[in-house]
Amino acid sequence: MRIGVAREVKTDEYRVALTPAGARELVQGGHDVLVEAGAGEGSSFADDDYVRAGARIGSVEDVWADSELLLKVKEPIESEYGRLREGLVLFTYLHIAADAPLTHALVDSGIAAVAYETVETDDRRLPLLAPMSEIAGRIAAQAGAYFLEKPLGGRGLLLGGVPGVAPGRVLVIGGGIVGYNAAIIAIGLGAQVTILDRSIDRMRYLDDILSGRVSTVMSSALQIESSVADADVVIGAVLVPGARAPKLVTRAMLGAMKKGAVIVDVAIDQGGCVETAHPTTHTDPVYEVDGVTHYCVANMPGAVPITSTNALTNATLPYVEAIAEHGLAGAVARDQALARGVNVLDGKITYEAVAEAHDLDHTPLEDVLPLAAA
Ligand SMILES: NC(=O)c1ccc[n+]([C@@H]2O[C@H](COP(=O)([O-])OP(=O)(O)OC[C@H]3O[C@@H](n4cnc5c(N)ncnc54)[C@H](O)[C@@H]3O)[C@@H](O)[C@H]2O)c1
Repeated sequence: MRIGVAREVKTDEYRVALTPAGARELVQGGHDVLVEAGAGEGSSFADDDYVRAGARIGSVEDVWADSELLLKVKEPIESEYGRLREGLVLFTYLHIAADAPLTHALVDSGIAAVAYETVETDDRRLPLLAPMSEIAGRIAAQAGAYFLEKPLGGRGLLLGGVPGVAPGRVLVIGGGIVGYNAAIIAIGLGAQVTILDRSIDRMRYLDDILSGRVSTVMSSALQIESSVADADVVIGAVLVPGARAPKLVTRAMLGAMKKGAVIVDVAIDQGGCVETAHPTTHTDPVYEVDGVTHYCVANMPGAVPITSTNALTNATLPYVEAIAEHGLAGAVARDQALARGVNVLDGKITYEAVAEAHDLDHTPLEDVLPLAAA
């Protein structure tokens, strides 16, 4: 298959959808890989690295026009709409439920659009979102430790303490992928860590693997109120699938917090789980409310594109290989998780939540693709 890798055009997006290592795997599988010039630059991959892996380098026009499968990281923006076309399979983060113009552009073009974020396994895991949660969780603990420093507006506390001086306390609200990863970095820094969750099964699991190194406590409004008052760093990491994040830390609770404590609201991309949180950027990541520092960067993995690119492509490559080897119809027939990733095909919306979000018709994937034929 002819596989193209486009250079990202969104502001501050430094990731690329395929590493040279991934390109080598695809080339060895007998595929033709065409990478847009400079596509890997933001992640420290030079064009020559791709050439050494067996890929070719081309212009933006070549990559979009000659490929059968096009790999990207972010959704196409308006200047790219004209490049969408029938006969092309686009594999990228799309998030089109919140993007009416792009939904219409995809439908009108006849392209096959497969979204990373809706690839979902039978046990409801989201394998192409998980790596970004892992990264955001780890950054959350680092950001918390950093912004505790006095010159940065923090309490002036070393999170890990030193012999003879007690360490700081980290409270993680939500012990999912973000929460677990935040906890292991905070433990590594030497902090005292408490995780609140509402799932007893999840806490049983966390207790098993982190036994003795964290406290797990059932989450409730009363528990959050008392734990927040004790904490030096609060990490908001809850997710209620398909809903905005619940506001678990209220403005009233800030009054009882220590001056110079830090809140990192990772759930900010779902509206935030802290009442006083609003989205910030890497250029201006923090602000202060009632003496508490708030860090609410909505795209935390964007700060570490080398790590993010490698983590993302590790997760996407098996799906890319499957599409390349069997074609989209064959690959989705073999893998229900990938089938759930198909959002738009042949001018039809095949992902129900997207159709609902825009009040458009939904066509089940089986009605558009002859899955049995593959
Ligand atoms: N800011 C960023 O750059 C960034 C990056 C990745 C993920 N995120 C966001 O981080 C959040 C967490 O993602 P995840 O992958 O860890 O999700 P996850 O589903 O793995 O974990 C969420 C956890 O929250 C728990 N939870 C739900 N309600 C709760 C409550 N009331 N109290 C305590 N715990 C509760 C769930 O039981 C679950 O264990 C999401 O909102 C996600 O969108 C943000």
